[in-house]
Amino acid sequence: MSTRKSSASPRATPRTRRAPRRSGPEPVRLGIIGLGLRTEVLLVSLFAIEGVEIVGVCDVRDTAIARILDIFKQNGKQSPDVERDYRRLLERSDIDAVLVPTSWNSHLPIATEALQAGKYAGIEVGGASSLNELWRLVRAAESTGVSCMMLENCCYARNELLVLNMVRQGLFGELIHCCGGYEHDLSEYACLVEKGFERSLHNRFRNGDLYPTHQLGPIAKILDINRGNRFLSLTSTASKSRGMQLAAQRHYGAGTTYGDMPFNMGDIITTVIKCANGETITLTHGIALPRPYSRNGRVQGTRGLWVEDAKGIYIDGISPSIVKLDVAGNPYTVHKWDPVESFYEKYDHPIWQEYRRQEMTGGHGGIDSLALRAFIDSVRAREETPIDAYDVAAWMSITCLSEQSIAMGSAPVAVPDFTDGKWVIRQRATGGRWSL
Ligand SMILES: NC(=O)c1ccc[n+]([C@@H]2O[C@H](COP(=O)([O-])OP(=O)(O)OC[C@H]3O[C@@H](n4cnc5c(N)ncnc54)[C@H](O)[C@@H]3O)[C@@H](O)[C@H]2O)c1
Repeated sequence: MSTRKSSASPRATPRTRRAPRRSGPEPVRLGIIGLGLRTEVLLVSLFAIEGVEIVGVCDVRDTAIARILDIFKQNGKQSPDVERDYRRLLERSDIDAVLVPTSWNSHLPIATEALQAGKYAGIEVGGASSLNELWRLVRAAESTGVSCMMLENCCYARNELLVLNMVRQGLFGELIHCCGGYEHDLSEYACLVEKGFERSLHNRFRNGDLYPTHQLGPIAKILDINRGNRFLSLTSTASKSRGMQLAAQRHYGAGTTYGDMPFNMGDIITTVIKCANGETITLTHGIALPRPYSRNGRVQGTRGLWVEDAKGIYIDGISPSIVKLDVAGNPYTVHKWDPVESFYEKYDHPIWQEYRRQEMTGGHGGIDSLALRAFIDSVRAREETPIDAYDVAAWMSITCLSEQSIAMGSAPVAVPDFTDGKWVIRQRATGGRWSL
């Protein structure tokens, strides 16, 4: 994949539907494939972004289509065309890009076909089922020059971007270790196997880190993965599985078919990734036990660290340190946290310096909107997206590789180099407004 502008621009072809001439940014014409709950949230952000026209939508379920059309109507928006086969959207010359918030099994094949049809693809988060589907995506991006972005909203979260900015300015020293995770009690929803939620089936049948990207994405950017660094190998370990079945028993009742159904997914999955430059990353996946939400973020270097759950940053020489004396009269230093917010004024990332002055609308406190704006601006400029197919492949590979490691008793597993060696010469992308 290059950073060159795409030669497969659908802008060169005649459109089947013409928007009236108007001022403001050139419109980006979108199709949306997969009209579930996520799309309902994304629409709130999309409707607020200038220069976006949603011209076609697709789902295989009539109920999902009806709900989405109703949301268009309630917001006074022109109804998009409706398809039940996503390939019909990909054939259209008046669509520049597709969003793919389908379920986990279909993101990657649909995105690959979209690139092959010359459409930018914005895929939702999740993990891969196999390395093959990731290689196909990477090869499609390389051969077409069209970009695929994971809409990883957490990459645009304020604290993650603050830490990225501070790391780039050298405040953390040389990076040594990062942590992240998805710790979110979803058991009441994810145990509902009979409702056909794909997520429930993944939890029932698989055992690995199914949802690695919310924290791994920001960490990968902080560690320059695929641009001077890469994931080398991992080991993954699963605890026993109890939480999901207990939730199913509460919902369906013990002694019933669904209430007694076993789940393969360990309640806590711990994955340790080793990077080429020597850093380690610990990821935790835990969605089956009661607990408050956390992405368990931690970024630690030779001079300081950020710990999400402590709501604190410690920087040597800046944050408070108190010298005390032990019982023998020997001095020792106690380091104290600074509140994360105390760094906002000086070190907010330029993206947040711009957006903190505005009313942030849309899902997840506005970060959905930032990720979508990054994607849409890249499509409009026909440029590489700030999260590209190499990133998508590296981040999503952790899911199927953690499954392999667990299946083999926590054996080390190699992470493929999806860049085929280009990571050693690829530079950090610094130019664009949305660069990470
Ligand atoms: N970034 C975030 O914060 C965030 C939050 C929630 C969900 N998500 C992600 O969004 C995605 C969708 O989640 P959801 O909760 O909306 O799931 P969902 O199951 O409610 O919706 C998925 C929709 O895709 C449709 N679909 C599946 N295969 C299709 C195909 N081949 N063609 C057309 N339509 C197809 C399904 O019929 C369904 O309506 C998931 O990847 C999820 O992980 C991200």
